[in-house]
Amino acid sequence: MKVGVVGFPVAHSRSPVIFQHWFERYGIDAAYERIPLAPEDADAFFAALPEEWAGVNVTVPHKETAARHVVCDAAAQALGTVNTLWREGARVMGTSSDGAGFVASLDQAAPSWRDGTPDALVLGAGGAALGIVDALQRAGARVRVANRTAARAETLAERTGAGVVAWADRASALSGVSLLVNATSLGMEGNAPLEVDLAALCAGAVVADIVYSPLETRLLADARARGLVGVDGLGMLLHQATVGFEKWFGLVPEVDAALRDKVVATL
Ligand code: ATR
Repeated sequence: MKVGVVGFPVAHSRSPVIFQHWFERYGIDAAYERIPLAPEDADAFFAALPEEWAGVNVTVPHKETAARHVVCDAAAQALGTVNTLWREGARVMGTSSDGAGFVASLDQAAPSWRDGTPDALVLGAGGAALGIVDALQRAGARVRVANRTAARAETLAERTGAGVVAWADRASALSGVSLLVNATSLGMEGNAPLEVDLAALCAGAVVADIVYSPLETRLLADARARGLVGVDGLGMLLHQATVGFEKWFGLVPEVDAALRDKVVATL
């Protein structure tokens, strides 16, 4: 059985390492391949997913194109994108697992985030932020967003019903917040760090970064120095992959230290 990840470019994807680990761990005879697909070929590919693929993950720049050609579940409909496709009879189904992966990562690394009614501030308004806001709301959190470009925050708020905070007010808005999420690309290797004063966060607050390279961003180091709980972005990457594995192979694979170590070695 063959599965894989469709993108352009796709050489950087860590998914093959993740799936190979699970194939060995669970004794599954399958291959996970990188599938480079030029944008001009994308409509034809997703309109009739070639039979050789039992299922695929979808990455940049094809997440929207794929969503137009498959049967989307609720999460995919809310986002207008898919990153996981599987077959049900003759139909090809799609979901977006980023948000669910983010919440599963929080549940594993910082289960206290669910205490009371979580009050979350999400920084960023791109595709990653949208998936996270949607999933946090489904999990019962109150969510506000702040983004450098205010118009994008407004658009995200209209789509999800989240509140909006001005980017310049992100530090003062932390008063009463129990979960802060960096869903921007700030802090990633080669980018500027995220500047935000964490002083106003609740005691015991959880600070989560979607950045996983480096694993320990300045934001997370700052949070830990204040005695807050930090959650790195690797958990989201690993947990979002469990969704495809379950759809294709019928079991929920474990995200354990051995898997983390293998992927960390590739960073
Ligand atoms: P993704 O799909 O991964 O979310 P994206 O759509 O490019 O990627 O979004 C990147 C996010 O990082 C955006 O929220 C972006 O803010 P803008 O909407 O204002 O561009 C944010 N971001 C990137 N560089 C930034 C910077 N220097 N300062 C503040 N925010 C930044």
